[in-house]
Amino acid sequence: TAPALKTYFNGKFLVGMTAEPSEINNAISQPVLKTHANSMTAENCMKPLAIGTSAGVYNYTLADQVIAFASANNIAVRGHTLLWHQSAPDWFFAGDSTSATYRATVQARLERYIADVVTYFKGKVYAWDVVNEPTSDSAGSPYRNSRWYQVLGADYIEIALRAARAADPTVKLFINDYSTENTDKLARLMSIVDTLLTRGAPLDGIGHQLHITTTWPPVANVRAAFQAVETRGLINHVTELDVSLYGSDPGSCYGTPATGCAPSLTEGTTAYWDSIRAQAAQYRAMYDLFASQPSVKSVTTWGVADNHTWLTSYPVNRLNHPLLFDTTGKPKSAFWAVVNPS
Ligand code: XIL
Repeated sequence: TAPALKTYFNGKFLVGMTAEPSEINNAISQPVLKTHANSMTAENCMKPLAIGTSAGVYNYTLADQVIAFASANNIAVRGHTLLWHQSAPDWFFAGDSTSATYRATVQARLERYIADVVTYFKGKVYAWDVVNEPTSDSAGSPYRNSRWYQVLGADYIEIALRAARAADPTVKLFINDYSTENTDKLARLMSIVDTLLTRGAPLDGIGHQLHITTTWPPVANVRAAFQAVETRGLINHVTELDVSLYGSDPGSCYGTPATGCAPSLTEGTTAYWDSIRAQAAQYRAMYDLFASQPSVKSVTTWGVADNHTWLTSYPVNRLNHPLLFDTTGKPKSAFWAVVNPS
């Protein structure tokens, strides 16, 4: 019989899964969450576009459902996220951007939002992705040229971290990003981190999204990312793990627009099963690494079971089965590879 993941990895790291109220109440994913997870992340309902209705006005309806389910089932919650360029309500930036007070106004809105939301969830979440995806994907400035960066400059990250710490002295504060397994991107993120640490900004850890594929990355790259963080005295969380079946996608598939993406697999074909086998090997290699790294405190998959995953619409619409449980919620080969390490 299948061991509970949270028991299997007890003493190593928390086992997390992302889920919205719809997934919590879904007959396929709910039993998986209850059996295997001791950490949860809200897929969308704790993002600024979901919570921040307007200045000082918040909508916690869905987030409260996640918190209630988690607390009823002894599941801890990771807060995701307080600031993200893709979930930035326009009201934060309203006003005359040429006026002398504009920058201070935007900063005050950000500080108030973070103070209120972190206070609301105090004692209910154990970590916050304070800033999501701040790192540039290209050489040059390490900072993503987001609206936040354009208005507040590089300081916006420190402003956000300090506001979160002021509202909750103990919750773990994270910067979360993707492609930390890419050597150049890791270097850019670490240059941001070093600036923050030099300035004494409150930062506890780095979240590695780890949206990976059957063929990328090598384990050594992920280990290097963990070690870069550990060397700086910070902890590691794996925050959004999934293993796409499309290991042959070119980089351009993840561009805007997405071009050259591999065509959809058909379930049950030889190509499908080859990819499922490669996926199991990739999952095994990754969990072997996670379990060997004491600095890795939490490992979350971005979804529960293959019946619901963002990868069926990103980067293009096609079949994808990137998780540890199949579309009916049963453990699949990737699951068995993870609990029967080499
Ligand atoms: C994704 C959700 O899964 C989708 O449902 C939503 O439409 C867009 O956001 N990096 C992140 C997550 O930090 O918040 C994203 O989640 C996936 C990529």
